[in-house]
Amino acid sequence: MSTQRAIGIGLLGLGVVGSGVAESLLSKPDALALRAGAPLALRRALVRDPKKARALTTRPFPLVTDPAQVLESPDVDIVVEVLGGEEPACGYIERALRAGKHVVTANKEVMAKHGPRLLALANEHNVQLRFEASVGGGIPVIGPLQRDLLGNDIVSIRAIINGTTNYILTEMAQKGMDFAVALGQAQQLGYAEPDPTNDVQGIDAAYKLAVLATLAFHTRVTASDVPHEGITRLRAKDFRYARELGYAIKLLAIATKEQGNLTVRVHPVLLPMETLLAKVDGAFNAIEIKGDLTGTVTFHGLGAGARPTASAILGDVVNIARAICGGEQKPMTASAADGPEEQGLRLRSMAELSTQFYLRLNVVDRPGVLALIATVLGEHGISIAAVVQKDADPAAGSAELVITTHPAQEARMQKALAVIGRSSVVREVNNLIRVEAV
Ligand code: NAP
Ligand code: HSE
Repeated sequence: MSTQRAIGIGLLGLGVVGSGVAESLLSKPDALALRAGAPLALRRALVRDPKKARALTTRPFPLVTDPAQVLESPDVDIVVEVLGGEEPACGYIERALRAGKHVVTANKEVMAKHGPRLLALANEHNVQLRFEASVGGGIPVIGPLQRDLLGNDIVSIRAIINGTTNYILTEMAQKGMDFAVALGQAQQLGYAEPDPTNDVQGIDAAYKLAVLATLAFHTRVTASDVPHEGITRLRAKDFRYARELGYAIKLLAIATKEQGNLTVRVHPVLLPMETLLAKVDGAFNAIEIKGDLTGTVTFHGLGAGARPTASAILGDVVNIARAICGGEQKPMTASAADGPEEQGLRLRSMAELSTQFYLRLNVVDRPGVLALIATVLGEHGISIAAVVQKDADPAAGSAELVITTHPAQEARMQKALAVIGRSSVVREVNNLIRVEAV
């Protein structure tokens, strides 16, 4: 055991992740002290309601409601922010950095919106700001992008980076479970955000993609740069039809660099069944990164939950503690994009994207309807790959059409859909899902 003074840890938040961090710190103090070079002492945790019943019942540290007792206390060296949300979390991180504290955060919203500014502030105050837990839960992916993959020009990222939605999609696909029931289970298991809207609308994945793309492409990508669509329009029949066509449905976060253009997007996709990403189920995440030298590398593991996320946080804490013990104060993360920004990269809009599409329509069941729809698509330069008529309802006089297309420009598809949606023979445009080529 080291004779160094203890490194003080202050927790902001003692919910799902905070409890996981506290439990891990308390359960193996000697092993962590050995790796860190000094004992790690959990000083106190900030919460909203100290009287609330908590999973962590044995607590040899006080709960406080005054943030200053964590942010500005002389016995705290490292502040661990696991509150969630933009404010007050961002303001607290800023205060901690200004007070000369190192900060570890699991907060992708704050990093996606304010990361570059906070990293610059950490640099200015000669402290570290680490955020491994902000993307992929227990999967190490920020570290590899900051260090091990730096020799590469990254070409693309394709990632399943939201455990809640992957859990829901898996339950819907495999058990035909109702969306709301699957979401309730994900919440109970501690995967979901305090407000699960961020999960199901693709916002959480968009935050994480902004963080990854900023590091991977050495440019500044913020949350508002990432167009996102969620999973709420998906129905059991979409999974059934997709399977018949040889596809799984996944919520993918995609960033691709091509000839000086960067495209970033989050939306459900049809993925060929045989691909690795199509087989990633439950709360597992997978991040596929393609570099010019390394080719494709895939990081896979649990992307949410108390213990996996605690793993990422403790890794950051131990690394900072080592730097403190070694007398090293220089932050490893300095500028906006974690290094000089790449010049001349243009963010390409979704409208310019070209993909294949899966389209599900509810139409009037009578002769000539299919021809009419094919004509509208043709007039917009969209070529049909296959059409299947499904689930005719004679009583309602309606039928369902599932159409797949050859690659077509997004802008053209949106214009065609607007015309199709106005047609008197179309009862509803149920779903438009992009197909991700292998
Ligand atoms: P959570 O269970 O809702 O816990 C939030 C904690 O913060 C609670 O202890 C709450 O206090 C406290 N808190 C919130 N606002 C506060 C305020 N204004 N003042 C004082 N205390 C406040 O959330 P979580 O799931 O642990 O997530 C925390 C962070 O980790 C988020 O950024 C999330 O995105 C990230 N993350 C979560 C996971 C996961 O699997 N859950 C995985 C990776 C990253 P009370 O207990 O008194 O209400
Ligand atoms: N709500 C997030 C998810 C937690 O479901 O992936 C991990 O960031």
